[in-house]
Amino acid sequence: MAKKKGRLDFLEMKKNNEKVAWITAYDFPTAMFAEAAGMDMILVGDSLGMIVLGYQGTIPVTMDDCISHCQAVRRGAPNTFVMGDMPFGSYQISDSDAVANAVRFFKEADVDAVKLEGGVRVESKLRAIAESGVLVCGHIGLTPQSSGPMGGFKAQGVTPESARFVLDDALAVERAGAYALLLEGIPPELTEFIHKRLSIPVYSIGAGLPCDGQLIICGDMLGQFQAFTPKFVKKYANVAEVVTNAFKNYVDDVKTGKFPEDQHVYHIRKGCETEYAAMLKEYEKK
Ligand code: KIV
Repeated sequence: MAKKKGRLDFLEMKKNNEKVAWITAYDFPTAMFAEAAGMDMILVGDSLGMIVLGYQGTIPVTMDDCISHCQAVRRGAPNTFVMGDMPFGSYQISDSDAVANAVRFFKEADVDAVKLEGGVRVESKLRAIAESGVLVCGHIGLTPQSSGPMGGFKAQGVTPESARFVLDDALAVERAGAYALLLEGIPPELTEFIHKRLSIPVYSIGAGLPCDGQLIICGDMLGQFQAFTPKFVKKYANVAEVVTNAFKNYVDDVKTGKFPEDQHVYHIRKGCETEYAAMLKEYEKK
């Protein structure tokens, strides 16, 4: 069994140009599969709102939702670095709220780090969390919690003016003491620049190759999430088709009496069949 990685291992991987493979998971079985596959990190993203809970976006997701899904993931992947995603409302109000909620992730769900969205506008929150001793990762570029005000799930940093915002955010995240940075939905040229400019590990989801590793949403790469597929997703399976076909076959088997078969039922203990039949007869008259 591989040893659980920590912050220093990720710095070492960065130094050695060894890429980090990172995926989201929200439940026990997916976490088990991720650990068995040798995943370096798991994010319990607030994307669970869309992928698992059926909301239109991430805004309704609560701290309690995130904690209970982190606990399930930790049970499934005890030897993998797990990051909890701070949901909308858990860090916006005050620095002390941000610290209290980050600490909840640590104490109640045994995560290794937390992540929150934003750079300049949440710099004091990132700093307060880092100073409390909780590892914190910044997330900038396309940030789903603010996709409403941003005009939807749109790539960021594609013009010089909008790239400035991303660059200022990246500098703020490092300045605040975050141990890592996640870039989402920006051009690879900007990713490469930020990767060279910062000394902390820089990861990408939809931000191209030139950085320290990649994150993907498990529901997207497994072909489970049906509402939409971002441009940056590579599908590795079609779970929706596999599961729907299995369910259809089950419905057919039940309707036609093909399930259960003899191998799926329990049998009366050998030697007591006559006594059993007599007992049933007795009940006919009761
Ligand atoms: O919630 C999540 O899964 C995320 C990713 C989109 C980066 O924050």
